[in-house]
Amino acid sequence: MTTEKDFVTPNFTNTVENGSFRWSAPSNIALVKYWGKKTNQIPANPSISFTLNNCKTITQLAFSHKENDGDFSFDLLFEGKPKEDFKPKIKKFLERIEPYCPYLKNYHFTIDTLNTFPHSSGIASSASGMAALAMNIMSLEKQLNPEMTEDFFYQKASFLARLGSGSACRSVKGSVVVWGNHDEIEGSSDLFGVAFPSKVHANFKNYQDTILLVDKGEKQVSSTVGHDLMHNHPFAEQRFAQAHTNLSAMKKVLETGDLEQFIQITESEALTLHAMMMTSLPYFILMKPNTLEIINKIWAFRNETKIPICFTLDAGANVHVLYPENVRVSVLQFITSELVGFCQNGNYICDAIGIGAIETIN
Ligand code: PMV
Repeated sequence: MTTEKDFVTPNFTNTVENGSFRWSAPSNIALVKYWGKKTNQIPANPSISFTLNNCKTITQLAFSHKENDGDFSFDLLFEGKPKEDFKPKIKKFLERIEPYCPYLKNYHFTIDTLNTFPHSSGIASSASGMAALAMNIMSLEKQLNPEMTEDFFYQKASFLARLGSGSACRSVKGSVVVWGNHDEIEGSSDLFGVAFPSKVHANFKNYQDTILLVDKGEKQVSSTVGHDLMHNHPFAEQRFAQAHTNLSAMKKVLETGDLEQFIQITESEALTLHAMMMTSLPYFILMKPNTLEIINKIWAFRNETKIPICFTLDAGANVHVLYPENVRVSVLQFITSELVGFCQNGNYICDAIGIGAIETIN
């Protein structure tokens, strides 16, 4: 079994003076949700997600060698301009990964990052952002250690991304990723995300995710606070056990293409996530009236048309509408005529299942 020790790098004899890399990494949407964690970003339960394609962060990492003076040294640019308020989060990330990447203080970094989705869309950029940065750092490590295998490269990138933001470890690979130990998922680990090992049924090929932007404001509850609410939560143990059961069921669904079951598990997981927040102390309601309007409209549309569309939610008010590619035209017509009115400024983003992080040309 892979352990944390496997990710501690030995001292490399190779040195690299300077250079730069550029990686894009997508966001992901969980079907079985991660909510609750132990120390060191270990999930309280396993989760499974679709990797997205269009909502992504593109990050360039330029590096130049310096003496190790005991400090991290980096500039942070967002869309090409200095962004001081992002720096503490990056510094914390570097501190967390340093035990596994002891070479970091030997370099000055310029991190230049941008998102393909609007900054204030209410879509968390931490998953895609941390994954993109982790990929770049692994590119540097690969130059220092050219013998590294491709498997190790991706596994360690996911391991590092996890230390930045848990769900980020599911953004390295596509198109369906499991994070967290689960008896029936071969190779699954609490330390990194793994590509879903079975063949995914054709029903899920190019599966669509239209993200309805109901509330573009700052998150009411940060995920750090949210995960903490699961400590001493009255339903925590049942919830963690349920996630294991739902992941077993979802595994079968993804293999067999049973869309009815897919809808049931996915919607139940979304509502359970929110139920956990409503029943914690302090308690929160993260849905908005328009979130409920949209959910009811989706249910009515599904009843009437028998089109297999469903919703899922993150820890916020926005609604992800999930559906197979072959019903795209009718669903988009439904969205534009009946749902867009519930979105802030009528905004929504069309996305679909994707392949994971990609190195792009500088
Ligand atoms: O990765 P974090 O710590 O921001 O947590 C994300 C948690 C959810 O998005 C609500 C669920 C999930 O599994 O992605």
